[in-house]
Amino acid sequence: MNQLLSADSPVFWLAARAFGVVAYVALALEVLLGLSATTGLLDGALGRARVFELHRWLSAIGLGAVVLHAAVLLLDRTAGFTLADVTIPLWARYRPIAVGLGILAAYAAVTIHVSFFLRAVVGTRIWRGIHAGTFFVFVAMTLHGVLAGTDTPLLGIKLLYGAATLLVTWLVFLRLFLFLTRSVRAQTPG
Ligand code: HEM
Repeated sequence: MNQLLSADSPVFWLAARAFGVVAYVALALEVLLGLSATTGLLDGALGRARVFELHRWLSAIGLGAVVLHAAVLLLDRTAGFTLADVTIPLWARYRPIAVGLGILAAYAAVTIHVSFFLRAVVGTRIWRGIHAGTFFVFVAMTLHGVLAGTDTPLLGIKLLYGAATLLVTWLVFLRLFLFLTRSVRAQTPG
């Protein structure tokens, strides 16, 4: 047991990667739910309030997994991460750009999560501006997973990144389309 949990054991490296995948799934679902809520896609099936509630929970679960993902890296000796490596973008010698993107995605995701509770204080316009950062989180964490991940060549992982990217892109276009058709309708007399 002691050997299994020693810093040389692969358990921490495997656990860190597993938490990375859990964080990715939770945050990708959060983005998808957020976009579904604003397009009204799930209103009939779940109701908008429940979609928002789920959206917030997925954000919390995703952030919890990100903290464990980075914390377990500190216990592992495979890449020899220090506290500075996991908190300062480009500091780590291990795949610095790819890891840096993960750190930036994590900071942006925390800011967005905190903003859930500050909507009444900062006002809806500023809150929406902060929330738009979700797209940055999605792009940065996807690039991070693809470029930093040891498991990227696996079919299941490729399908995960591919399906999440296709769905998010489709929902962004649907949202744009709905926004434009509503604006045109609002400007058409009668
Ligand atoms: C939104 C935040 C983050 C998400 C969603 C995320 C997700 C992921 C995913 C899905 C992988 C691929 C795992 C694999 O292929 O086995 C990964 C790898 C990695 N992440 Fe993150 N990550 C995030 C933030 C961070 C942070 C803050 C660090 C701190 C250093 C970090 C360090 C790493 C490292 C070193 C790897 C490479 C591990 C390997 O070789 O597989 N990540 N991450």
